[in-house]
Amino acid sequence: MLTMFVSGLLLALLLPAGHVEAVPAARQALRCTISSFTNVVVLPGVTVTIEKVTSISEGGSYQESSNLGFPQKIDKLPALCAVTVRVTNTSDTPSRPQSSYRFGLFLPIASKYNSRIFTVGSAAFAGGINWPSMSEGTHYGFAAISTDNGHNSAGSDMSWATPASLWDWGYRALHGSVVAGRVLIEHYYGKPIVRSYYAGCSTGGRQGLREIQYDANTFDGALIGAPAWDTVHLMPWISKMAVYQLQSSSGRLGTNQMSILAAEVVKQCDPQDGIVDNVVSQPSTCNFDISTITCNDPSRCLTAAQAQTAMRIYADYKHPSSGRLISNGFTLASEDQWYVYYGDDATLTDFDFAFPRYFLYNLSSTNFAWQNYTDSVALDSERINPGAATANKFDVSPKVQETKTPGKIIMYHGLADGVLSPKTSQLYYNSTIQAMGSSLTETQKWFRYFEIPGMQHCMFSNRQNAPWDIAAPGQPSWLRMLPSLGVGLPAVGDGWSVPGHLNDSDYDILAALIKWVEEDKPVERVIGTAFNSDFSVYRTRPICVWPKKAVYSGSGNVNNASTWRCQ
Ligand SMILES: *[C@@H]1O[C@H](CO)[C@@H](O)[C@H](O)[C@H]1NC(C)=O
Ligand SMILES: *[C@@H]1O[C@H](CO)[C@@H](O)[C@H](O)[C@H]1NC(C)=O
Ligand SMILES: *[C@@H]1O[C@H](CO)[C@@H](O)[C@H](O)[C@H]1NC(C)=O
Ligand SMILES: *[C@@H]1O[C@H](CO)[C@@H](O)[C@H](O)[C@H]1NC(C)=O
Ligand SMILES: *[C@@H]1O[C@H](CO)[C@@H](O)[C@H](O)[C@H]1NC(C)=O
Ligand SMILES: *[C@@H]1O[C@H](CO)[C@@H](O)[C@H](O)[C@H]1NC(C)=O
Repeated sequence: MLTMFVSGLLLALLLPAGHVEAVPAARQALRCTISSFTNVVVLPGVTVTIEKVTSISEGGSYQESSNLGFPQKIDKLPALCAVTVRVTNTSDTPSRPQSSYRFGLFLPIASKYNSRIFTVGSAAFAGGINWPSMSEGTHYGFAAISTDNGHNSAGSDMSWATPASLWDWGYRALHGSVVAGRVLIEHYYGKPIVRSYYAGCSTGGRQGLREIQYDANTFDGALIGAPAWDTVHLMPWISKMAVYQLQSSSGRLGTNQMSILAAEVVKQCDPQDGIVDNVVSQPSTCNFDISTITCNDPSRCLTAAQAQTAMRIYADYKHPSSGRLISNGFTLASEDQWYVYYGDDATLTDFDFAFPRYFLYNLSSTNFAWQNYTDSVALDSERINPGAATANKFDVSPKVQETKTPGKIIMYHGLADGVLSPKTSQLYYNSTIQAMGSSLTETQKWFRYFEIPGMQHCMFSNRQNAPWDIAAPGQPSWLRMLPSLGVGLPAVGDGWSVPGHLNDSDYDILAALIKWVEEDKPVERVIGTAFNSDFSVYRTRPICVWPKKAVYSGSGNVNNASTWRCQ
């Protein structure tokens, strides 16, 4: 690799002056300036503008404060070159509007570059380059890529929807960013990229799966967290649960009732999984009795009407006339996070109906109130499938190379997730096995699923303080960005991997994925870490490949992973 780069450089220097026009690109490579990246991407229908190039020294920070999706400042960066690129693309089918998006690159200095690229996904409906997640990859030596998804907005905002921006958010911006990003990166370093990785959680998980379904050769390895893959069903499900909360004031669960419910679920379901450790390890087998906390005193109970609302939120949402599944309900132990969609009036009446309002029917902000929701919205959603964002083409056998298996995928989901039900990830995994006419054993050769007891949406564990940190996408950067939450927490960790276990494939699931892809060592388990309030280690435990579960050996420190096995 190095020889190739050096000879490119020599060629540039030795060529007679008359040829210089053809080579300035090669000569300027590795200089962190706008001209190094200008006129490098030459693709039909594609216009690339380099907006900004910044050199960052070792230990430096980066912040794009105009970025509504990811405005946070990130620090502790390795020495790198930050590049912002604008792309317009007119080569989609004529019936679709022109694509327009931005993407960012973080390019480590040549001596630290591992010749691999790392694409990261976004969150919720955010627009903006995800610099925080990109930064995690740079410490491993990756050149990192993230798209802004074709718009600039906070994660809860859907009012940006236009036909063009929906297609870009759906899949075009991510695909195009990797295509154009690859060209810039190979040019910059003057050598070929040897591997391509992906990491994303929630919407980021959806984007990764959507890209794999679009082109199964884009990534050699992908880390897919709690994927919001079933967009057309998830969003009507969110609306429907909000209707349950809003339709009668006596049945509405306040955050206090969610908390009472969460405490009772831990009380009943923790022992039922076989060991009393405050962690609900097997919510699906818990026989929960809500009557123990049903009474008429709202300070310690749920009323009968509130208990009914709770049971509806746990139940699968099925279309009333056909009985067909629309979306899986939440699992037991997710209640602490129900506030995200169902906590306050503003969310219940605005965000929870924004998808039909803006993405399906193109109404104004004052149109489409909760009273307008009917089950037919779910059918309209299936038919319209805004931006073709839904990642439900489960058969990902690469069309071009029949004999090549798809890239490796690790998918994970927290069992205390109160934003997206872990059942939806099981459904995705089961549907893949079925669509590919495969078995669990065959599927595990390239696609493995992990459930993380007690983990909430993508990261953190609230009441249960269960091991959750596995260096999954967003986790290391959120540990560094804790001060931005404004609750007096310090910045924790090194901005990548797991504190105390940097780049250790026993603890770090990205390192484990790389090992699987490059050394053919399949991931059986990864050790999760939970912290005390001062961020010293509280407990560790293996997170096992599904359907295996972590089982305590019966003796020794229950908070030490070494006393647990996967079986
Ligand atoms: C991480 O570990 C892998 C495998 O041992 C090694 O090849 C790589 O150089 C390490 N990277 C860093 C940044 O330490
Ligand atoms: C909604 O309508 C407006 C005004 O006609 C149009 O500019 C916009 O592109 C439409 N958005 C969608 C998502 O169709
Ligand atoms: C441009 O659009 C075409 C068609 O959708 C797509 O195949 C190509 O990858 C896109 N390229 C970029 C850089 O966006
Ligand atoms: C919503 O419901 C109201 C009251 O029934 C009705 O007047 C209005 O037209 C509905 N809006 C939509 C967008 O269906
Ligand atoms: C997935 O398949 C497993 C094994 O057959 C089954 O136990 C589980 O209920 C299925 N999950 C969903 C959500 O369909
Ligand atoms: C966990 O147990 C192992 C093996 O007994 C030991 O080496 C290690 O120090 C323990 N870790 C903690 C955090 O107690």
